[in-house]
Amino acid sequence: MVSGSFSRSTSIRLTPRSVGSPRVSSHRKWWAHGPSISALAVTFFLVSIVLVVGCVLYLYFVRYLNRENLVSGFPGEADACDVFDGSWVADGTYPLYNSSECPFAERGFNCLANGRKDMDYLKWRWKPRNCDVPKFNAPDVLEWLRGKRVVFVGDSMSRTQWESFICMLMTGVRDPQSVYEVNGNQISKTIRFLGVRFPDFNLSVEFFRSVFLVQPGLPPWHGPKRVHSTLKLDKMDEINGKWVDSDVLIFNSGHWWTPSKLFDMGCYFQVGGTLKLGMPINAAFRTALDTWALWVEKMVDMNRTHVFFRTFEPSHWSGSNQKLCEVTEQPSSELKGNDGSEFGDILADVTERMRVPVTVLNVTSMGASRSDAHIGIYSHPSTILDCSHWCLPGVPDAWNELVFSYLLTDGWRKMVR
Ligand SMILES: *[C@@H]1O[C@H](CO)[C@@H](O)[C@H](O)[C@H]1NC(C)=O
Ligand SMILES: *[C@@H]1O[C@H](CO)[C@@H](O)[C@H](O)[C@H]1NC(C)=O
Ligand SMILES: *[C@@H]1O[C@H](CO)[C@@H](O)[C@H](O)[C@H]1NC(C)=O
Ligand SMILES: *[C@@H]1O[C@H](CO)[C@@H](O)[C@H](O)[C@H]1NC(C)=O
Repeated sequence: MVSGSFSRSTSIRLTPRSVGSPRVSSHRKWWAHGPSISALAVTFFLVSIVLVVGCVLYLYFVRYLNRENLVSGFPGEADACDVFDGSWVADGTYPLYNSSECPFAERGFNCLANGRKDMDYLKWRWKPRNCDVPKFNAPDVLEWLRGKRVVFVGDSMSRTQWESFICMLMTGVRDPQSVYEVNGNQISKTIRFLGVRFPDFNLSVEFFRSVFLVQPGLPPWHGPKRVHSTLKLDKMDEINGKWVDSDVLIFNSGHWWTPSKLFDMGCYFQVGGTLKLGMPINAAFRTALDTWALWVEKMVDMNRTHVFFRTFEPSHWSGSNQKLCEVTEQPSSELKGNDGSEFGDILADVTERMRVPVTVLNVTSMGASRSDAHIGIYSHPSTILDCSHWCLPGVPDAWNELVFSYLLTDGWRKMVR
């Protein structure tokens, strides 16, 4: 269990000190007061050697034993626990924060403030089948993130995760007033950049809106009339330079790759200066991800930055025209909803072939049963029906718990430098 692994690191740090210091002080005493080498001193010397060797063996043994129980990583590593394979269990100690007390949670995601009365949806914890994720502990995570920069890039789902993460951290800050948005901006749907500073920890948590990750552009002036804009699949979004100098970098993309958000708006694909009018969306998504993968390999300092890509977050629209949105009070018993599995398959394929390690944050099946956790009618302004986004607190908190359980166990060792 991971909770075990955390107490393990504490006990390891403490053990050498508590065993080691009496030994050192006894040596000092002996040198200071003992002019002759008595039999007693020799015995003492031998005993301390036995102690040291025993201590080393003990530490090695404990470390070795515990390693098997660690969330030592994600699928792909032998004997690691697949933290994405699990279920939601009822847990009265959740949620992790109150959105009404977090200045960085936007009203649109605060379902309770927007009239939702049932509260069971807040009290679920994600439980991997073969291990436990440690509960998020804000003071510890803040300390670990001291001097670092965490960057979220993507669509509104990334903004939700960014807000969730900040609200989770805020519960561990002594002076919430000290935390501020660097440009004094209010959170809004279309804003390109939001950055929150935690001055006591020299920590920045930032969000960049880039719904396709690749570069939107103007239509070619000799192109067909229906082309109002293009998406340059072979070029990264021009703000990409702002993402690289980071310690944790979390991407997503998916919900905007639909005919209604592309072709119906007159947006068509372009590769190498050539319009690709007939290119299917799946092929375009793959080309864009290939561009992203090359960019990560070339531009990101993998010695410093840990890169994640979050998979498609399921939506739960229903009815024959997928326009109904019925938010339940309990999670559904079967996995359902639109899981964007075609995007997941492409992402798995692209990341497998990358030359650098990136972590796929596979939240798709986690979300599939959470038909209770969408915003529904509890949006703001209240005219929108929403079975895509999630209430905060809620499901995105669990995504963050997974990110940080990963960083604090396996990935972290590489990052503390
Ligand atoms: C959240 O905080 C608000 C404002 O302090 C309070 O009115 C509300 O009862 C709290 N909600 C919960 C679920 O604790
Ligand atoms: C704050 O962190 C940055 C790296 O993100 C580092 O360059 C800088 O020296 C830190 N400042 C202080 C005062 O520790
Ligand atoms: C990353 O670390 C490796 C091994 O320490 C080193 O060889 C490499 O040059 C480093 N890369 C960068 C970009 O600093
Ligand atoms: C995510 O997990 C599901 C279920 O285990 C799996 O089918 C899918 O391939 C995974 N996706 C990625 C991108 O790893």
